Amino acid sequence: MPVAALLGLQWGDEGKGKCTDYLASGFDIVVRCQGGANAGHSVEAGENNMITHLLPAAVLQKQVELVIGNGVVIDLWEIIKEINEAENLSPGIKERIKISKNSHIVLPFHKYLDQKQEENRKDSLIGTTGRGIGPCYSDKALRIGIRAGLLFYESVLTDFFSKFCDQHEISSKDKDYNTAYLLGAISEVSPLLIDSQNYLNRAFKEGKKILLEGAQGALLDIDHGTYPYVTSSNTTIGGLISGSGLSPFSLDRVIGLVKAYTTRVGEGPFPTEDDGISGQRMRATGREFGATTGRPRKCGWLDLVAVKHAIEINGVTEIILTKVDVLSQFEKIYVAVKYSCKGEEISYFPTLSEELLEAKPVYIELEGWEQEIRKTSNRNKLPANFSKYLDFIEEYLDTPIALVSYGPKREEMIIF
Ligand code: GDP
Ligand code: IMO
Ligand code: MG
Repeated sequence: MPVAALLGLQWGDEGKGKCTDYLASGFDIVVRCQGGANAGHSVEAGENNMITHLLPAAVLQKQVELVIGNGVVIDLWEIIKEINEAENLSPGIKERIKISKNSHIVLPFHKYLDQKQEENRKDSLIGTTGRGIGPCYSDKALRIGIRAGLLFYESVLTDFFSKFCDQHEISSKDKDYNTAYLLGAISEVSPLLIDSQNYLNRAFKEGKKILLEGAQGALLDIDHGTYPYVTSSNTTIGGLISGSGLSPFSLDRVIGLVKAYTTRVGEGPFPTEDDGISGQRMRATGREFGATTGRPRKCGWLDLVAVKHAIEINGVTEIILTKVDVLSQFEKIYVAVKYSCKGEEISYFPTLSEELLEAKPVYIELEGWEQEIRKTSNRNKLPANFSKYLDFIEEYLDTPIALVSYGPKREEMIIF
């Protein structure tokens, strides 16, 4: 069964872009299934660097088909811009891109509303990316959202959009602006639209290898994350299945990405956050600044309680541990293995943010390896303390580490 899912097990930015690009050489099709241009997935391959927001991060793997699935919310002009950028790096890329007719369109109005709602939250900010994600998914759930497939039916689209404007009490000036945005994108986007569920299921039956690329991370999942400090889609395995239209039985691998420490951009509980010197060193060495918004990411030690929660929800079969090079500078490494909550020790992740805010991490201390990690396929050749660190994580999570990423470049990857 050749379908694999790759997803983040923390608060996003685990290195999904790098790992998707790396793994994509073994796949025929890579699919984005949920989220939108709130994602920022960095790829560094040879001379070429790109940050993808809506396109699957396999843009630089020239044999791979790129599908944007039904669960994605698409900013039409953002995707046009991204395709043009990718075209410079990978000529002829348009031939490889397909967009689901059932994906929903993010309008300028959604972005305006996202930013306005955030302003109105005043002292209880979520810290959204301002990309219109929440308002677009809300309209989808209200059944007034605009699906990309309507671009084929201009008069239906105009009619539907008029009702949309009435419902949202959009002024005629803003209506004109949003209409121009929609209609202006028709000629560029409609040639790329397909019935993606049908396409993917046929490809699966033909034995094509398909990689589902998650966006965000498990702790930003609208059901299983730190609500309300989450995004508006299911970032966990269910979201990848419903957002692609493939059957859950088609999956044979669920690859979970774990950054060797923890980061979070945006607001909300973060038990292992370290705003002292260690966190600052992680941010500086790991270049922890948002790929979408440029905001500095909050940093802290690895939280295995949170990752274990993500492993359970997703049915992770193997782990890719990323950014281990950033920890090479530390004499001692800390890992949270429990929380202390109202005087009691707990080893599960409280899913109510109010409870999680009271959780204090209980750390164990491991010896650092304090040397550069180099490529080897032999685990015995790794620095002994690094090897112990891997063993500890595998044992705690009861899941094998299949790959280790030790730098942003494609080739900086160890496979066991
Ligand atoms: P994504 O959202 O999960 O795709 O992650 P981002 O691309 O937003 O952020 C990850 C950042 O770390 C990017 O700047 C990557 O180039 C970089 N990166 C990925 N893997 C590694 C690694 O193993 N070591 C280092 N130092 N950087 C990495
Ligand atoms: P990738 O795919 C990190 C965060 C935002 C905010 C919350 C809600 O690159 O890992 P939204 O704009 O989605 O309504 O914001 O979710 N967020 C991310 N954080 N990486 C991401 O994507 C994110 N996408 C959304 O910072 O806290
Ligand atoms: Mg990112």
